Amino acid sequence: MKAVQKEFSRFADTYAQYNIIQNRVAQKLVEECKDAPQRILDLGCGSGTIAKKINWPYEKLTGADFSAEMLALHPKSEKIACRLGDFNDEKLFEALVSERYDRIFSASSLQWAEDLDKTLYQISQLNAPVSLAIFTSKTFKTLHETAGISSPLRSADEVSYLLGQYFRLETELVEYELEFESIEEIFAYIKKSGVSGGRNLLGYTQVKTLMKNYPTKSLSFEVLFARN
Ligand SMILES: C[S@@+](CC[C@H](N)C(=O)[O-])C[C@H]1O[C@@H](n2cnc3c(N)ncnc32)[C@H](O)[C@@H]1O
Repeated sequence: MKAVQKEFSRFADTYAQYNIIQNRVAQKLVEECKDAPQRILDLGCGSGTIAKKINWPYEKLTGADFSAEMLALHPKSEKIACRLGDFNDEKLFEALVSERYDRIFSASSLQWAEDLDKTLYQISQLNAPVSLAIFTSKTFKTLHETAGISSPLRSADEVSYLLGQYFRLETELVEYELEFESIEEIFAYIKKSGVSGGRNLLGYTQVKTLMKNYPTKSLSFEVLFARN
């Protein structure tokens, strides 16, 4: 099991309490979708944030995720198909291409694509409109600056460039700020929300030093929304 997959699986049961920003992101993606698609694909669907927010009657929703633990929490019904699969792996797309979709959603997941270029190409081959939200490198900016490390995420410019190769999309860059009571809460949030995606960039001592020097009681997030 790869690092990212392990992290989401470990925190699958606490994810719902810690996904405040992901919830807002999914809400915005769904609210801004005006074409009431009937056949929906949700890539990196997790525990079903998108499925839970869709408020129009639809024919079918396929949710794909590589964490069985997250999929176990996804709403189930005769209209919902949950598929265990990895969007880094061509096999998932070979299976998905046999179906027609009216819209492909992906909320807060594609930042973890190993080769985003390749994954976006494969999504484009499904020939459907998209509603995507991808976390970008100014997420946890203060934290990375304080620790003197660079973000594991791609910049908004790089993601926009990669998207532009395969789609003609409207994009919007949104920053979110989350306030906490204490520094300890900030670090508990980072661990439990799965936002770190299993990438332990710092050792124990470095985290302790960072907690001492962290200058604010807030965390910032940067998300690129893209849709057509
Ligand atoms: C932050 S959660 C977002 C879940 C959901 N879309 C939401 O908005 O709450 C990221 C999800 O992406 C999934 N994920 C990460 N990398 C993946 C990959 N390579 N293939 C499939 N799913 C992946 C994780 O298992 C996790 O469920």
